[in-house]
Amino acid sequence: MVPRIVGPLPGPRARALIERDARVVSPSYTRGYPLVIERAWGSTVEDVDGNLFLDCTAGIAVNATGHAHPDIVRAIADQAGRFIHMSGTDFYYEPQVRLAEKVAAIVPIEGGSGVRSFFGNSGTEAIEACIKMARHATRRQGLIAFFGGFHGRTLGALALTASKPVQRDKVGPLMPGVYHAPFADCYRCPVGREPDSCAAECLDFLDQQIFAHLVSPDEVAAVVVEPIQGEGGYVVAPDQFLQRLREITRTHGIVLVADEVQSGMGRTGRMFAIEHAGVQPDAIAIAKGIASGLPLGIAAARADLMSWPPGTHASTFGGNAVACAAALETIRLLETQLMANAASVGAHLMAGIQALKDKHALIGDVRGRGLMIGVELVRDRTTKERAGRERDAVVNACFERGLLLLGAGKNAIRFSPPLVLTREEAETAVRIFDQALSEVR
Ligand SMILES: Cc1ncc(COP(=O)(O)O)c(C=O)c1O
Repeated sequence: MVPRIVGPLPGPRARALIERDARVVSPSYTRGYPLVIERAWGSTVEDVDGNLFLDCTAGIAVNATGHAHPDIVRAIADQAGRFIHMSGTDFYYEPQVRLAEKVAAIVPIEGGSGVRSFFGNSGTEAIEACIKMARHATRRQGLIAFFGGFHGRTLGALALTASKPVQRDKVGPLMPGVYHAPFADCYRCPVGREPDSCAAECLDFLDQQIFAHLVSPDEVAAVVVEPIQGEGGYVVAPDQFLQRLREITRTHGIVLVADEVQSGMGRTGRMFAIEHAGVQPDAIAIAKGIASGLPLGIAAARADLMSWPPGTHASTFGGNAVACAAALETIRLLETQLMANAASVGAHLMAGIQALKDKHALIGDVRGRGLMIGVELVRDRTTKERAGRERDAVVNACFERGLLLLGAGKNAIRFSPPLVLTREEAETAVRIFDQALSEVR
């Protein structure tokens, strides 16, 4: 599709709705630019004033199958026509069991005990379930997460989140028993090593500092890690970091939880990002891309870990029948077409953005896998001074030209389009990004 901007943004209808919103909607939402949506299809979003945008956000990495995919719409309508809700907490129904069977077949979880799924409605609930399950199974309380990580905003998940102070400000105290370790951000190595020769030395901090001075490993229930930090700036953990983490957790009987809420469901060209490292965790938190936009979060885990008795954990809406039907159809489309598209169009998009590095000194680093690509902007490539203001200006300049992007971290831009993105659309995105960088430089 070709973006079409018919007048100054925001247009009159958009402005009117934003004014109403400002009176009645919580001001805690982080709206970067004034997009007011009327309808969307494929990778195209139309606003209320008739402007057309190319979507490289997918509603924060959610609409894996594109907007209003006919097969998804059909699956939702079919299930809604049968029944919409009957509480999977209290009753049984086919779509939930089928989805649990399918999840068990696609997750790369360690061990031969089988896989069980707990169903919630969001990423943060998937993480809450992982926390409670790991504590219950191990009878330990400690939890390890990483600086820069984002795991959600309910008070338990928020205690793991170490992304931006504003997310924690004035709402504490948070859940106790959480310790943070450095994440392997190889562009800004936290322990000053070179990526080429590094053996994930940043994990020495966990092994030799946290375990030596703060909490002994046999008091730790779980380590929760994003294989690619999302909100933190699309920072790809090197394979050896995840592999060493697996060794450490296995040695100490700690549950390794992969938070694949953003990086999972085919976005990286594999079903789960951790598969690129050949690592099998004990549990995986899934949400966002799983149900093409319907609310669904899943904590999938080794069956022997999910040994909690009835009543321990549940959710009224979790695993809603319509969301499960959408998820089953989403997985079918990912397996038959879209994961492969994410890999090939992602490589094309990555190459196009990489090529802009020669032209734009603002680009410090381009990284990612498949259609999960981050571009870190810096004022100086040697000092790597973060270009946060410039990042916001580039995102806004893209919006004004009809390209929807989102920031991530302090100074990165994320490309997380629907996985139906075509090569031509990827080229359009690169062209507009190029123009925006030229304007802001
Ligand atoms: C990696 C990760 N985990 C957890 C969450 C929380 O998900 P939700 O916003 O659905 O609660 C997010 C949301 O951005 C995320 O990116």
